[in-house]
Amino acid sequence: MADKPSKGLADVVAASTALSDIDGQAGRLFYRGYDIHQLAGSSTFEEIAYLLQRGSAPGLGELNGYRAELVAGRTPGALVTSTLPQIAASQGPMEAMRSLVSLASADDPDESSNAAPANERKAARLTAQQPILVAAYHAAREGRESVPADPSLSLAANFLLQLRGTPPSARDAEILDTCLVLHADHTMNASTFAARVCAATLSDMHSAVVAALGTLKGPLHGGANEQVMRGLEAIRSTGGSDPVAAVGPVTRDRLGAGEKIMGFGHRVYKTEDPRATHLRQMSGELAASSGDDTYYRMSRQMEETVFAEKGLYPNVDFYAATVYHYLGIPTDLFTPVFSVSRMAGWTAHVMEQHADNRLIRPDSEYIGDRDLTWVALSER
Ligand code: ACO
Repeated sequence: MADKPSKGLADVVAASTALSDIDGQAGRLFYRGYDIHQLAGSSTFEEIAYLLQRGSAPGLGELNGYRAELVAGRTPGALVTSTLPQIAASQGPMEAMRSLVSLASADDPDESSNAAPANERKAARLTAQQPILVAAYHAAREGRESVPADPSLSLAANFLLQLRGTPPSARDAEILDTCLVLHADHTMNASTFAARVCAATLSDMHSAVVAALGTLKGPLHGGANEQVMRGLEAIRSTGGSDPVAAVGPVTRDRLGAGEKIMGFGHRVYKTEDPRATHLRQMSGELAASSGDDTYYRMSRQMEETVFAEKGLYPNVDFYAATVYHYLGIPTDLFTPVFSVSRMAGWTAHVMEQHADNRLIRPDSEYIGDRDLTWVALSER
């Protein structure tokens, strides 16, 4: 007979990883030994993707080579391009990402190989293509051509260019780049675990990433960033002349009714999520320069209320929502933007799993009936 399960696998150590580490009591996060507080603002997303996927911080030559690989690998294949208009017309953003990444495998020259060099190449292509897919999806649903990519720009700057149609300011590009650094990996979160379970069957990298995308979509995981913004928008639209003052009573009512407030709480962090510290600061900066800091002030009020009522801290999704909003990213693309960054981590985890694999197959506790007697259909 199996032991009692840990509901939600809480506190279960499901895998060994050298990619990232969390100290939940101290509120610290490390990528391959580097503290996120040091990386935020002083490293680029391309450097972090390389660090995760290739094992160490790149030198200048390695980084230039990797950037060239990203530029060369980012053009979507024929199957993606030909089906994009229909997908954009009939699927929401995260469903579309799931479909498009799945279709992209058809045109990937390394599709069928799980060999380490093939996986490295696929990881770079998937990382390069994800922002292109999000921007192309957005253009297609608006019935316009995609803005051509600019190979001289960083992945973050090019994404903003393609999404918004005009070159971003240097600071906007830097802020999005820092967001991508902050979201790149996070130990055994639900989507990464899904990717590793899939990879552990010796399935391929695209399949593992599709499993991860489907898992990221849920509002208890990556889908929370969109729900945070929807919650703030709802309060603002009904909060009368002072939406900031309306936040406290509305939030207390929702908590009193047993509702969860999106963007708060975390399985591992027992104190402030270190990513939220940077996102709060960037949200404040963007709010100040936008000329309308209402959503930022509403967020600060919500943070205060949720802490006073429940002792819960904001997680990565809470201030990411207003940062993306102030960057002009449509609300329903917030979770796809998360996937642009987490692609670096997922693909690195698939490679780590393949390098030292054993099928992931836990046990279950049976709670159903036993020893029943089957009655033939004609007798029931
Ligand atoms: N609002 C109100 N109450 C909450 C919240 C919240 N956001 N989060 C946790 N709680 C309460 C629960 O109701 C529960 O209370 P109870 O013991 O009185 O029933 C207690 O805190 C523990 O919560 P669980 O849901 O059991 O904690 P778990 O570790 O399973 O879940 C999770 C963590 C899913 C992040 C949870 O905090 C949550 O649902 N938050 C809102 C969704 C969200 O922001 N998700 C994004 C997480 S970050 C990421 O995935 C990228």
